[in-house]
Amino acid sequence: MTQTFRITLLPGDGIGPEIMAVAVDVMKQVGSQLDLNFEFQEALIGGVAIDETSTPLPEKTLDICRGGDAVLLAAIGGYKWDSLPRHQRPETGLLGLRAGLELFANLRPATILPQLIDASSLKQEVVEGVDIMVVRELTGGIYFGEPKGIFQTETGEKRGVSTMAYKDSEIDRIGRVAFKTAQKRQGRLCSVDKANVLEVSQLWRDRITALADDYPNVELSHLYVDNAAMQLVRWPKQFDTIVTGNLFGDILSDAAAMLTGSIGMLPSASIGADGPGVFEPVHGSAPDIAGQDKANPLAQVLSAAMMLRYGLHQPAAADKIEDAVVKVLDQGYRTGDIMAEGMTAVGCQGMGEALLNALA
Ligand code: IPM
Ligand code: MG
Repeated sequence: MTQTFRITLLPGDGIGPEIMAVAVDVMKQVGSQLDLNFEFQEALIGGVAIDETSTPLPEKTLDICRGGDAVLLAAIGGYKWDSLPRHQRPETGLLGLRAGLELFANLRPATILPQLIDASSLKQEVVEGVDIMVVRELTGGIYFGEPKGIFQTETGEKRGVSTMAYKDSEIDRIGRVAFKTAQKRQGRLCSVDKANVLEVSQLWRDRITALADDYPNVELSHLYVDNAAMQLVRWPKQFDTIVTGNLFGDILSDAAAMLTGSIGMLPSASIGADGPGVFEPVHGSAPDIAGQDKANPLAQVLSAAMMLRYGLHQPAAADKIEDAVVKVLDQGYRTGDIMAEGMTAVGCQGMGEALLNALA
């Protein structure tokens, strides 16, 4: 029997539409092979939404997202919108989507593919075999804490304020996602905080430590964020699953991503307690190469695979897509960002065609 899934597509800005087109073609092909039917509905977010509706996240987009089974997002932002006031910035649309769908858990894998090991800026022996999952809290912490704003002081100076705050319940729910994620991996969880300085981190550490009793098969460790950043570039293989707050997760997940050589390869998943998740590449909208058929669509395609695995519970379809990505790399196809000597250079569309052939 054919199963039907309603997927909201948010192509967004820059290279978004080109890489999204590749992911949609790949999903259609896999769907026809596995008797899965995808109903795609496109909606506006980011700069395109600002241009057409003067807000980065129209209410209609949130409604469409809420009505579907999962959201596949490409990328948002660009120079054109960089000088707008904050409430009209593309980034505000992304934060609104996370908050609006209550996507408190962000899973960002950083896995080294053997075919791309030379693309890393670190030595081969340091990065080979790296397989890290960063679990980042996504709807709390300093991104959303109150008070926030730029205020006038009594002396006439301006004072910028952002507040890093976490409640027990917010720490517990992300902690549980992280422990469960570690259970499905190598069973090692490292919690990252700044408990030697920040009260909010002291609470974080206490709660995560208390949760560990419920997951006796997970080995829990703690690192301060500065040390964690150092350890990530010193000896990344020591990490299996990392759990951390919103800001530290933003920073560490970029560092972890770059271990793999190209941020153009990495997908991510943002999930809530129930309701549709958002699946998107870790990279941005790359306005400098937009519309030139140069973008690497593989992170977008792997995001579709993550959506099938974690959002729609279709592991066979996810496996097929991931296998196809490995196959095209084995065949030597490379976009500019991962190009190496002796490989076959392709553009975004060429990579898409190679994937469809690999799936056929
Ligand atoms: C990310 C990005 C966003 C964030 C920006 C674009 C708001 O850096 O998804 O990591 O800081 O969360
Ligand atoms: Mg970031």
